[in-house]
Amino acid sequence: MTGPAPVVGIVGAAGAVGAAAVAELHRRGRHALRLAGRRRAPLDALCHGLTATDGSPPTAEVLDIADTDALHRYCAGCDVVLNCAGPAYLVEDRVARAALAAGADYVDAAGDDVLWEQARALSARAPGRTAVISAGMMPGLSALLPRYLAATLPDPPRALLGYLGGRDRFTATAAADYLRVGEGFGQAGAALTGGVRARHPLPTRTDAELPFFPEPATAVPYLSTELERVARALGVTDATWHSVFAGPHVAQVLRQPPAGGNAPEALRRAAELDAFGRATYQLIVVELTTVAGAAHTLVLRGDSASSLTGAFAAVAVAALTEGTLAAGLHHAGEALDPQLAVDLLADSAAVSGLTVFDGEAAHAGGHVEEAL
Ligand SMILES: NC(=O)c1ccc[n+]([C@@H]2O[C@H](COP(=O)([O-])OP(=O)(O)OC[C@H]3O[C@@H](n4cnc5c(N)ncnc54)[C@H](OP(=O)(O)O)[C@@H]3O)[C@@H](O)[C@H]2O)c1
Repeated sequence: MTGPAPVVGIVGAAGAVGAAAVAELHRRGRHALRLAGRRRAPLDALCHGLTATDGSPPTAEVLDIADTDALHRYCAGCDVVLNCAGPAYLVEDRVARAALAAGADYVDAAGDDVLWEQARALSARAPGRTAVISAGMMPGLSALLPRYLAATLPDPPRALLGYLGGRDRFTATAAADYLRVGEGFGQAGAALTGGVRARHPLPTRTDAELPFFPEPATAVPYLSTELERVARALGVTDATWHSVFAGPHVAQVLRQPPAGGNAPEALRRAAELDAFGRATYQLIVVELTTVAGAAHTLVLRGDSASSLTGAFAAVAVAALTEGTLAAGLHHAGEALDPQLAVDLLADSAAVSGLTVFDGEAAHAGGHVEEAL
């Protein structure tokens, strides 16, 4: 890299995802970081907790994204703005709008089909600027990893089977977004068969033994619009994906969310109970079967969805500032070069294992869990 380090503004920097993204970007030391959030104390604590590097230390500033003028001034001083503030359904395109209007590029750690449509209109009015959304665990890694695995295969893939989840905490913010995820991202119970949505919904399985998962868990079949696009791009005609939750309390809340506005808090508390005294983990297991009938499996393991999301958002920022993305609007998991992204992820503190095996997940998963 020559010239001054690109200035990256991180909005919502002191949140669970934001702090993970900041840690990754700071560790790499290739950007000047401007941390922003509503409250001074957590930002200062985050700055003080970062180990010194040779690069310039991050700066911190108080910013409420509801203050449109302040947000615009902040964005005008950045080369890239990374949004980690949430919940995404309330933030919508507020930060993207300010960043692109101020001449900065944009990355969002979240983003569903609603944000895509909003950002498409903004991007059309900002020629030369790059915007990358859905740079999280799902959506995000859930698209990148099948593309990465497909690129390692000797033959084109025909079928995809995936599991994503684990035993983990939810922030209230992520819980609020998760409980609304059906609105504009996909359909529970759906899958692709022969290139079309299967006619009959697949059931949710409870206490299911799942490959690589160290304990029985709830597996919810879920067909996202992201997975449909990836399947189409790879030539995959049969695709089944599962969101996985280990722990009885989360399973109970998902089965019967409390009525009214209490559901996000109930989900946060249930996850806290399930995680109490236990190590949290997240797994992404992707199995691709080629047209020749050979199965290959990829497994990624991390401690939490927040840290994996922050790590992938940081990878998207790196890919953008290294000039590997054309101007325009992109989904991170579908646009980033899979090899570049996986190399960066493998080096990240958020990822504790990333391995590709020959064979079916159900076969390989029974034998190698300890090695991860
Ligand atoms: N794709 C995935 O797999 C995945 C996984 C996890 C999370 N996520 C998404 O990532 C986003 C962040 O989640 P999180 O778990 O990190 O939540 P979090 O820990 O609650 O952090 C959210 C941050 O946003 C800040 N914020 C909220 N409103 C703001 C405003 N008006 N102005 C400035 N800052 C504001 C909060 O500041 P305060 O502390 O002042 O409220 C907080 O620091 C959410 O959209 C979530 O859905 C995605």
